[in-house]
Amino acid sequence: MADYLLAIDQGTTSSRAILFDRGGRVVQVAQQEFPQQFPHDGWIEHDPEAIWETVLATSREVIAQAGVTLETIGGIGITNQRETTLLWDRATGEPLYNAIVWQDRRTADSCQALREQGCGDMVQSRTGLLIDPYFSATKLTWLLNNVEGARERAGRGELAFGTVDTFLLWRLTGGKVHATDATNASRTMLFNIHGQQWDPDLLELFDIPEGLLPEVRDCSADFGYAEAHWLGGELPIAGVVGDQQAALVGQACFEPGMGKSTYGTGCFMIVNTGDKAATSRNRLLTTVAYRLHGKTTYAMEGSIFVAGAAVQWLRDGLRLFDDAAETEALARQTRDGHHVYLVPAFTGLGAPHWDPKARGAIFGLTRDTGIGEIVAAGLQAVCYQTRDLQTCMRDDMDATPGKLRVDGGMVKNSWLVQFLADMLGVQVDRPTILETTALGAAYMAGLHLGWYRDLDEIAELWRCEKSFLPEMPEAERERLYQGWLEAVERVKSEP
Ligand code: G3P
Repeated sequence: MADYLLAIDQGTTSSRAILFDRGGRVVQVAQQEFPQQFPHDGWIEHDPEAIWETVLATSREVIAQAGVTLETIGGIGITNQRETTLLWDRATGEPLYNAIVWQDRRTADSCQALREQGCGDMVQSRTGLLIDPYFSATKLTWLLNNVEGARERAGRGELAFGTVDTFLLWRLTGGKVHATDATNASRTMLFNIHGQQWDPDLLELFDIPEGLLPEVRDCSADFGYAEAHWLGGELPIAGVVGDQQAALVGQACFEPGMGKSTYGTGCFMIVNTGDKAATSRNRLLTTVAYRLHGKTTYAMEGSIFVAGAAVQWLRDGLRLFDDAAETEALARQTRDGHHVYLVPAFTGLGAPHWDPKARGAIFGLTRDTGIGEIVAAGLQAVCYQTRDLQTCMRDDMDATPGKLRVDGGMVKNSWLVQFLADMLGVQVDRPTILETTALGAAYMAGLHLGWYRDLDEIAELWRCEKSFLPEMPEAERERLYQGWLEAVERVKSEP
């Protein structure tokens, strides 16, 4: 009998492979970072071969290091950085261009033009999204219009489009499966989230030939088999889910009103809204939380583009420390009530501002500002941005969760989580398993394989490691947050 599930978590800065047991416990982890390419201001690309090679290498490594045989692995769940756009040759599997990463802003002007033409309401009512370069549609149009021969070849049916999950499925199955799941599809800006199908009007609007698109399946479904030569034996792929939705599953937020916030490269707060696709009045997104047995559960999402990426910049760009783990001690040394604000709008601002042309800044420097204050400001920016989202959700849903579950690499930093609880004024729960993204993918595979009866059984496996309660006086919280709001106003492209 199989004992383990292999989760492939293909993220923005690294690929990870994690082996879980039936109880959702981590057995072994392998991780490899890969290069980020910045060809122009606001452009971000990944080499598709680096994505593929790191996925393959970490999957092989995790199996070898755990010392388990392939027969003990029941199947594979895939989770991935969403929206990132690839186009490849159906005959050879060769990509025509680099992957255009979700953070990439090259289509800001075409998005602006579409908004000016008045397409915003139609796009939002069908997809739940706001017209922004973040999503796949305009990236795919850019590829078709700018890569030599791409549009003609697409017209002849020679090419395939996919987000990263689809590309990995294609490669793992040797080109036998061209599919995605409903969560990833819901981030393309081409998918009607109410009808659960590619929307012909949107395909026309973005000038996308339908033949490029993958088939959309449930998150927990038959996605074919990884060919034997990749991992040393054939394995079923039984779960696919976008990484933020995977974290929602890994955090067992299955009841309407339950929410989580994940602090990876970016920060994504998602609240389950059940079978209701609630529309935001505050420029948040409506998205698919998961789709099981053909039944869609929806969510409201606030997306912030830079969270852990700010720590990475402080480490690699400014060289203020060698290891992200040092940030907690540095932040603890700062003097109370410093007025330094770091607005990490490196790739524009996401929710609720949606200003692709904004750029980052540091404010409030004084003669005694040190590394600690700048690092603390970087961490605090993540909390202030979460507060921005909380404010919007409160207004949209007439209530927000009285508690928030958090995960992602950054929340190992207890100083940050305490500041977050202080800034939100609600209890923040950190689970025992911080690998919630990979766990969510494993659970989706496990559901299809019959390892778990239903979501209730999965919810019983969730454990809280530590609860953080707000301690900061109200007046101090509001004073600090006011300073943040003023700093954000100053980086906007159109104040
Ligand atoms: O929407 C982008 C998101 O899926 C990226 O996630 O974990 O790579 O920051 P992450």
